[in-house]
Amino acid sequence: MSPAPSKVTERGTVCDVIASPEPLSFRPATVSDADALAQALVDGVEDYRSFAPPEWTPPSRVRVAEHLRGQLGDDEVWCLVAEAEGQLVGHVIVSPAARSARPVDEPALAHMGNLFVRRDFWGSGLAKTLHEAATGEARARGFDEMRLFVAAGQARARRFYEREGWMQASEEFDDPGPGLVMVEYRYALRGRTP
Ligand SMILES: CC(C)(COP(=O)(O)OP(=O)(O)OC[C@H]1O[C@@H](n2cnc3c(N)ncnc32)[C@H](O)[C@@H]1OP(=O)(O)O)[C@@H](O)C(=O)NCCC(=O)NCCS
Repeated sequence: MSPAPSKVTERGTVCDVIASPEPLSFRPATVSDADALAQALVDGVEDYRSFAPPEWTPPSRVRVAEHLRGQLGDDEVWCLVAEAEGQLVGHVIVSPAARSARPVDEPALAHMGNLFVRRDFWGSGLAKTLHEAATGEARARGFDEMRLFVAAGQARARRFYEREGWMQASEEFDDPGPGLVMVEYRYALRGRTP
């Protein structure tokens, strides 16, 4: 059965959430989570084959883990993981856009990356909980706005972001990094009810 929607109530600390029947717990990720997070990412993009070019292949788990190890060791990068029964079921990353892939010289702009939820938790409210935690953390870190890049063909994620108030901020463009057509979204952190 899917867990009930839940809230992360504390920033930067372990926070158990009462949800029936599986309690979710949330904690900041550490470098030792890199391999599990990389696996979650590779699993999470498997569906992208349905819209990706035929020659597309998922990113290498080893390379993703290597990149994550660098990110997770950086104080300016924040990653929240959600676990159920000791297993990773979701995560999200917030970093300064100035230091992310596709850096921009906008100190008040945060970058949201890797909002991933394990498939059996889709529709459970966990994505919304992680999203609220990420926007709350970015606000607490003094950012005014957030951006993300999503695959143009990832309809479910785009629907989710648009429902949460994100606005499309670019035309679709070919990104040789992931080998996908991507689109940028932005989200104002100030002047809205958290
Ligand atoms: C993106 C993700 C985090 C969203 O979490 P989720 O639990 O699936 O999201 P929700 O179910 O709350 O919301 C999805 C929305 O899309 C809608 N939706 C579902 N299937 C859809 C589809 N095929 N096309 C369009 N919209 C769809 C749902 O109805 C819902 O909208 P609604 O609440 O207005 O009805 C999750 O699907 C995921 O981890 N996907 C794989 C990884 C990924 O691509 N992450 C994004 C990286 S940028």
